[in-house]
Amino acid sequence: MGCFGRSRKSSKRSEINKEVNKDTVKIKKTIGGTSVGKSDKKDDQTQTSSDSTKVSPYRDVKDEGGGGVGKEDQLALDVKGLNLNDQATGKKAQTFTFQELSLATGNFRSDCFLGEGGFGKVFKGTIEKLDQVVAIKQLDRNGAQGIREFVVEVLTLSLADHPNLVKLIGFCAEGDQRLLVYEYMPLGSLEDHLHDLPSGKKPLDWNTRMKIAAGAARGLEYLHDRMKPPVIYRDLKCSNILLGEDYQPKLSDFGLAKVGPSGDKTHVSTRVMGTYGYCAPDYAMTGQLTFKSDIYSFGVVLLELITGRKAIDNTRVRKDQNLVGWARPLFKDRRNFPKMVDPTLQGQYPVRGLYQALAISAMCVQEQPGMRPVVSDVVLALNFLASSKYDPNSPSSSSRRNPSFHKDKDDDDKRPNLVKETESEDQ
Ligand SMILES: Nc1ncnc2c1ncn2[C@@H]1O[C@H](COP(=O)(O)OP(=O)(O)OP(=O)(O)O)[C@@H](O)[C@H]1O
Ligand SMILES: [Mg+2]
Repeated sequence: MGCFGRSRKSSKRSEINKEVNKDTVKIKKTIGGTSVGKSDKKDDQTQTSSDSTKVSPYRDVKDEGGGGVGKEDQLALDVKGLNLNDQATGKKAQTFTFQELSLATGNFRSDCFLGEGGFGKVFKGTIEKLDQVVAIKQLDRNGAQGIREFVVEVLTLSLADHPNLVKLIGFCAEGDQRLLVYEYMPLGSLEDHLHDLPSGKKPLDWNTRMKIAAGAARGLEYLHDRMKPPVIYRDLKCSNILLGEDYQPKLSDFGLAKVGPSGDKTHVSTRVMGTYGYCAPDYAMTGQLTFKSDIYSFGVVLLELITGRKAIDNTRVRKDQNLVGWARPLFKDRRNFPKMVDPTLQGQYPVRGLYQALAISAMCVQEQPGMRPVVSDVVLALNFLASSKYDPNSPSSSSRRNPSFHKDKDDDDKRPNLVKETESEDQ
């Protein structure tokens, strides 16, 4: 499994190269993987790579932080260096000085440390002048991910505004310091609630899982269908779904986002980036990124929510290490479905809801991208599942025998097509 970056965690993103047929597959080796704002010609350069594990170091943009450049100008310089349009360079996001952020975190004190990813460390802090608790992500200057992601993150989140996307409050681009300031998400990431739970921590219940899935799908729908230009996220995974009060999910980390194909194009060609286990096989093989690449990743997250298993789990026997590889043969027969559900739910789930959720996930992770549903259909189906509350205490709610959705009498008419499709063999 690919595991790069400095973190101890296993689900860090990286450049994903040719595990299969690595000598013959051409990859895009360029710094031009970014195109929020405009397309980047360098993206189309292709080169054969023999190194299947390297994270691209963005060497040619690293040294831009020049002395004597004002903080406001520094982002503009980053943008220019990356050949992006300087449109929307953070009009909604404010700039902070390094001193302000240092003050906010008690000089990045270890007890403010929240976690660490490929970009760098994340700290909790309080911005006094805003009277707001925030999460501050500090670019690791020796890290593999870098200024390009910083800029794309600022540009994407400055253009975006949706309750299921994390809010960027501001940034600091002072000298060679790069920091991002986000709204603080009190419940951390979905990964923290799904995998490797400390003893005594309660697993998420079925309704919360469906709520998180539906909210994450709505965030993705906003990126795909409402943003102008539309955006492919490219980094959907449990650690990038952050949770607010009451488990309201928000997508985070837009450093890999790409503007989707325009006109009659079906894909954008790019270096393959992402996280093993979540990356669509068609994209990994060809470098052709489509909206359906995100749908695949979403299907993996949904499968994690249902099964409680990790996208990649090296502690399992080899054939079961990849979640989709484990699930595919089981998807073929619905009698397997109850065996797939997270055992920590202890049987507390609605049978029909389980079948439908698994069927949606199976559609999303199909090998052929054209067979995967569009995000609006996934949203309709999951909104329906999330609103069909399961009550484990209801006398009629033995999960095995009796699906315990609270149904309105005209629910049948309200069921979205994707849900009806999943029910066709379920009678
Ligand atoms: N806005 C936030 N509010 C609260 N906690 C956060 C916030 N952003 C990040 N974190 C915490 O910091 C951790 C590290 O986040 P980060 O996005 O840097 O890494 P990652 O998602 O684990 O890996 P990757 O670099 O591949 O995205 C998260 O798992 C989360 O626990
Ligand atoms: Mg992340």
